[in-house]
Amino acid sequence: MNEKELVARHAANLVQDGMSVGLGTGSTANLFIEALASRHKEEGLRVTVAASSIVSTIKAQEQGLPLVALEHLTQLDYYVDGADEVTPDLTLLKGRGYDLVKEKLMATASDKFIVLVDPTKLVDRIGARFPIPVEVMPFAWGLVKRRLESIGGSGGLRQTANKDGLVMTSHGSLVLDMTFDSAFEAAALNVFLNETPGVVEHGIFRNLATVVLVAADGKVQEVWAE
Ligand code: A5P
Repeated sequence: MNEKELVARHAANLVQDGMSVGLGTGSTANLFIEALASRHKEEGLRVTVAASSIVSTIKAQEQGLPLVALEHLTQLDYYVDGADEVTPDLTLLKGRGYDLVKEKLMATASDKFIVLVDPTKLVDRIGARFPIPVEVMPFAWGLVKRRLESIGGSGGLRQTANKDGLVMTSHGSLVLDMTFDSAFEAAALNVFLNETPGVVEHGIFRNLATVVLVAADGKVQEVWAE
């Protein structure tokens, strides 16, 4: 079993009968969906799930998990998802995919946000390995980019893989992938982005993770938020 499978299975074993669980998006979240579905099928675990993306919706449907639309939810016990970067204070960078809005909504709404990573995701500072994704209203991208440049950011609109078009998110927004000087603190940037009109959502997830599960050398370590 690889590291992603290990944390996925560990998280699935934390789910209790009757819980509502939000499903993240990405390769690790997919493995969690499979592990949860296997408990649902084999042990009769009763669970209700809601997905953060179309991909995860389809995956959950294929696996036979009972799905509800986000619109019908008022509460989630757990939200389980991967991350691109995790700092020692459990700030996360997410959003390599196109589903930031639902991801942060569900992470915030859940009683516990369980994050699944391997040691390659552990970093000293947010932005160490990836740019910060900033999802913007299409008409606002130029003004938002200028505002981010005014505090030392650089970057541009995310392009499609073959570079002949622009990526659009599930909600019809564009994405600015921005890098900032290493002196820039994620806490300050989080506030700045939250206060920038035209920004729909961004990839810094601060004070949201309840526990980060890290797999290494065949074992899972639980790192709890203070
Ligand atoms: C999705 O938008 C992202 O935030 C993913 O959760 C993140 O990129 C982790 O993906 P993997 O589990 O595929 O590494």
